[in-house]
Amino acid sequence: MAAAQSRRGTGLFWTRLSRCRTPGPAQTRTGAGPHRCLSSVSAPPPPGTWSSELSRLSHRDLYRLSVTNPDQFWGSAAADRLRWVEPFKRVRDCDLSSGKISWFLGGKLNVSVNCLDVHVEKHPDRAALIWERDEPGTEVKVTYRELLETTCRLANTLKSHGIQKGDRVAVYMPVSPLAVAAMLACARIGAVHTVVFAGFSSEALAGRIQDAQCKVVLTCNEAVRGGRVVPLKSTVDAAVRSCPTVQHVFVSQRTENPTEMGPLDVPLEEAMSSQSPVCPAEPLDSEDLLFLLYTSGSTGKPKGVVHTQAGYLLYTSLTHQYVFDHRDGDVFGCVADVGWITGHSYVVYGPLSNGATTVLFESTPVYPNPGRYWETVERLRISQFYGAPTALRLLLKYDDSWVKKFDRSSLRTLGSVGEPINHEAWHWFHSVVGEGRCPLVDTWWQTETGGICIAPRPAEEDAPIVPAMAMRPFFGIQPVLMGEKGEPLSGGSVTGALCISQPWPGMARSIYGDHQRFIDAYFKPYPGCYFTGDGAYRSEDGYYQITGRMDDVINVSGHRLGTAEIEDALDEHPAVPETAVVGFPHDIKGEVPFAFVVLKEESGLDRAAVLKQLRELVTTKIAKYAVPEHFLVVKRLPKTRSGKIMRRILRSVAMEKSGDLGDTSTLDDSSVVKEIIEAHEQYRKQRAEEEKKKQQ
Ligand code: WT7
Repeated sequence: MAAAQSRRGTGLFWTRLSRCRTPGPAQTRTGAGPHRCLSSVSAPPPPGTWSSELSRLSHRDLYRLSVTNPDQFWGSAAADRLRWVEPFKRVRDCDLSSGKISWFLGGKLNVSVNCLDVHVEKHPDRAALIWERDEPGTEVKVTYRELLETTCRLANTLKSHGIQKGDRVAVYMPVSPLAVAAMLACARIGAVHTVVFAGFSSEALAGRIQDAQCKVVLTCNEAVRGGRVVPLKSTVDAAVRSCPTVQHVFVSQRTENPTEMGPLDVPLEEAMSSQSPVCPAEPLDSEDLLFLLYTSGSTGKPKGVVHTQAGYLLYTSLTHQYVFDHRDGDVFGCVADVGWITGHSYVVYGPLSNGATTVLFESTPVYPNPGRYWETVERLRISQFYGAPTALRLLLKYDDSWVKKFDRSSLRTLGSVGEPINHEAWHWFHSVVGEGRCPLVDTWWQTETGGICIAPRPAEEDAPIVPAMAMRPFFGIQPVLMGEKGEPLSGGSVTGALCISQPWPGMARSIYGDHQRFIDAYFKPYPGCYFTGDGAYRSEDGYYQITGRMDDVINVSGHRLGTAEIEDALDEHPAVPETAVVGFPHDIKGEVPFAFVVLKEESGLDRAAVLKQLRELVTTKIAKYAVPEHFLVVKRLPKTRSGKIMRRILRSVAMEKSGDLGDTSTLDDSSVVKEIIEAHEQYRKQRAEEEKKKQQ
C-alpha cells in the first residue's frame, strides 16, 4: 500500500501536473481544471507506464485516475497491453453531444494478432478453446497455434472468394471453433463480421443481411443442442433468396447428415483445406469497423450496433481481467452464445486477448440432466463461471444434489449477466454453487457498451459484495442518474434514468447506416451524456442497482426484444388491425411478451386458428423465444387523444393492478379501460381452468 501511494505521489502525479503546464489547444479553449486540460488532444503517455506503474495501483486509485485523467489511464493501458503496428498519436477525440467517438487515433493494429499471434509466440500449445460439445465428455481442445492456423485458412478462403477489407460477412453458426475462427478471420483481413444468433428465423436473418449488405454467409448444415438437431442451412437458403448481395454461402458440416448444395454454396472445410495456414494480418486503423451486432430497440427495426478495433479490444480485455480476476492458466467458462454481445466480448475477444483458455458451450443447462453446468465445471476445471439468471432460476428448482455431487473446487469467480438477478437466484448461485467462497459479480452492461460497465469487482480484496447489485462503475465509467426533468440527481437513495457522462473506449460508435438514429437514441434524451435506456437506483453507499428498462424493450431469458418488433410481426395478419405488446413477469424467463390483440369484426372468424397463426407469424418473422406467452383479444386499445397507445395502462391491467392505473385523464375514451379489464378477468378465469385441467 505504501509503495502504491508513493508511486502515485511521484511518477503519476508528476506526469499529470507536468502535462497541465504545457497546455494543448483544447486546454486553451476550455481553460478547465487538471482533468479537463488533458481531455481530448494530449499525446499518449510514455511506453511502459501501465506495466511499471499504473497496474500496481490499488483499484480505488486506478478508478480515480481513470476518471480524473482518462488520457493517462487509457493511453498507457492501450500502449502497453495491445500490440500496435503503428502507435497511436492521440488518446481520444470525443464529443458525446454529436455522437462523435474516436479512440487511439492514428494507431494501426490487428485484433486477431492480439488474440492469437502474441500468445502463439509465448504458449503455442496452450488450449485457446475448449469446445464443450452437446454430448458430455466429447469436448475438443484447440490450441492457440491450431486456432491461428484455422483462422488463417478461413481468412484465405474468404479472400480467395473476393472478400476484402470493409466487406460485411454474416455468421449464422452455433458456438463452435469455426464460428470463433470466422470472427477472427474477418478481423485478420479487415472484413466486418455480423454474427446472427442461430435461433433467429430466416426473415430475421434476411433483414440483417440486407441491412448490412453482406457479401457472404457462413453457416453449418445443422446445429446440435440438447440432443436435438436443428436445421440451419435450410434457414439460410430461405433467407438468401431475398438477399441479392450474397455471393457465397460457406457451409460447415457439424453433423454427418448430407446437405443439399446449391449454386451459391461452398463446402467450408473442403475450401479451407486447400488454403495456406498462414495469412498476413491487415494493419487496421483503430477506428475501422470490427463488427456489427444487431439488437432490438424501441422501434420495429433492429439496430446494427457498430464496434471498432482498438477501443473495443482494450475494453473487453481489461474488463475480462479485472472483473473476473483472470489469471494466467485459468479456464474461463462463459456459457453465452456467440450470437450475443456476451459471446463476442467474454467468449471470444476478452479471454483470447488475455491468452486465456475459453470454453465454448454448445449445450443447454439441463442436457442431459440439470447437473450439466457443474459436471462441465468439474471435467474442464473451470475457474470462472459466467451465466444468465434465467438458467439459474431454472436450475435452483431441482435438488441441490445436482450441484453438490460435482467437484467445483476449481471455481474462483462467479458472474451473472443479461438481466436483473433476483435474491433467490443470487443466494443459490453464491452459496450452493460457489460454497460461499467465490465472489459473485452481477455485471451490468449492454450490446452498445461493448463490455461490463457496472460490477462489484474490481474492488479492494476485502470489500463486501451486496447481493443482487451491480454496485460499482468499472474504470473510466461515470454513471449519472437523471431526474424527470432531465436534471442530474445527486446523493444516495435516489432513482433515475441511468446515463454515462464520459466516453469510454468500448462504447458503440454508430448504428450501421443510420448515424442519426444513434444520436437520437443515445445522446439526445440527456444532451452530452450516453443514455442507457435503463433506470437505476443509487444507494447511500454510492452503489448502483439496475431497476429495468425505461423504454419499450423487454428482456426475455436475458435476450433483448423490442415490443414494437413483435407488434409489427403480429400486425401482418390480415385479421388483426392492431396490437400492443407489453412485458409481463415470468418466474424463469424473467419477462415474457403479453399481447393485446384487436381482431377484425368478421362473423365466423375462428379465434383459436388466428391465435395459432399469430404464434407462427412471430416464429417466422423473429424467433421462437419472441412468441407472446399471453394473447388477450380486446375490442379496442387505450389511446390518448393524439392516438398514442397507453401501454402503461395495459401493463397495469396485465399485472392485475387495475386499481392503480395512474393518470388516465389523457385517454381519448376511458370506457375502453373497463372493457379491457373485463376481458382480462375472463382470460384469467379461462387460463386457471385450463391449468386445472392440465393438472388433473
Ligand atoms: C440490457 C442489455 C449485458 C450483455 C447481455 C445483454 C439488461 C444486462 C443486466 C444486469 C440488470 C441487466 C439491461 C440492459 N441487463 N445486464 N446485470 N442487471 N439488467 O445485452 O441484449 O444489449 O441487453 O439487458 O436492461 O439495458 P443486451
